[in-house]
Amino acid sequence: MSAVLRSPGDYGRVAVLLGGTTAERDISLQTGGAVCDALRRRGVDAVTLDATGDWFRRLADGGFARVFIALHGRGGEDGVVQGALQTLGLPYTGSGVLGSALAMDKVRSKRLWSAHGLPTPEFIELASDADLERAARELPFPLMVKPVHEGSSCGASKVLHAAGLADAWRAALQYDRRVLAERWITGPEYTAGILWRQPLPLIRLETPRVFYDYQAKYLDDTTRYICPCGLEAGAERELQSLVLRAFDVLGASGWGRVDFMLDETGRPWLLEVNTVPGMTSHSLVPMAAAAAGIPFDELVLRILHTSTAERSAGSAAA
Ligand SMILES: Nc1ncnc2c1ncn2[C@@H]1O[C@H](COP(=O)(O)OP(=O)(O)OP(=O)(O)O)[C@@H](O)[C@H]1O
Ligand SMILES: [Mg+2]
Repeated sequence: MSAVLRSPGDYGRVAVLLGGTTAERDISLQTGGAVCDALRRRGVDAVTLDATGDWFRRLADGGFARVFIALHGRGGEDGVVQGALQTLGLPYTGSGVLGSALAMDKVRSKRLWSAHGLPTPEFIELASDADLERAARELPFPLMVKPVHEGSSCGASKVLHAAGLADAWRAALQYDRRVLAERWITGPEYTAGILWRQPLPLIRLETPRVFYDYQAKYLDDTTRYICPCGLEAGAERELQSLVLRAFDVLGASGWGRVDFMLDETGRPWLLEVNTVPGMTSHSLVPMAAAAAGIPFDELVLRILHTSTAERSAGSAAA
């Protein structure tokens, strides 16, 4: 990490951009609220700004020195807001335009990983009835059907037989105009937080549900988060270097979270990268940071500090 600014005042007035109009609005309100409280506890002049209505004007006229992006999903995590902030000349946290856009698009993420020899489950994008037939013919069941650009497992479902594919497709289409079907991975699920190119300790997720769905993420108390994750140290280090490559290949930067699973043979399979993961007190990156000895408020400050990273021509996009 480059040197932290001398005092909290050096960051100037910070807008914590939160809310917005996406399916993940509620989670974003929680993330942004927790972030703003932490920044204030550390003496930073921070206020929340809901990304609805004339937010762009409020931001431009608000006398802000930088922005902490606490928006999840499309219109906040996908490069659009990042481009707008760049146009305003306001420094912001996390990934730039290109890294944000690529990470938000699960199909393009998977294509890039495959091109770089990184493991991700085989998939077919479902754009027509012919694609449904091709997926049924060419991919082994069960399949995971999910929106290309959604988060929080919204619109995702496990499909056991070809007969269930069309319904799953329609359910995912409620959330996104693009949908993919990918090979179902049977095995433990993990997530890896990344902060300033340092992977945090892995967390293993366990749920009695079919998969880690919206209910398991935000509502159930039966979901278990295991950290340290129980893998032998060498295996954990290898997986951490895999997730960092996955993060870098997409041009993501600053901080984020990589989700992956291991199959029955222990082989890893990359699922997706989140460039603005949840930051509530129950969220995964804060949990992993705590395991690495970084308390919540310190984590938030280190993420705020990613807004000071240079975005020169080469990295502007990233
Ligand atoms: N190929 C797969 N095989 C088995 N389970 C899967 C597969 N893909 C996704 N899942 C399950 O669905 C969950 C959601 O998938 P994924 O992480 O790809 O989407 P997301 O909705 O963008 O998640 P997030 O809330 O982390 O942004 C995963 O955490 C995992 O439990
Ligand atoms: Mg995920």
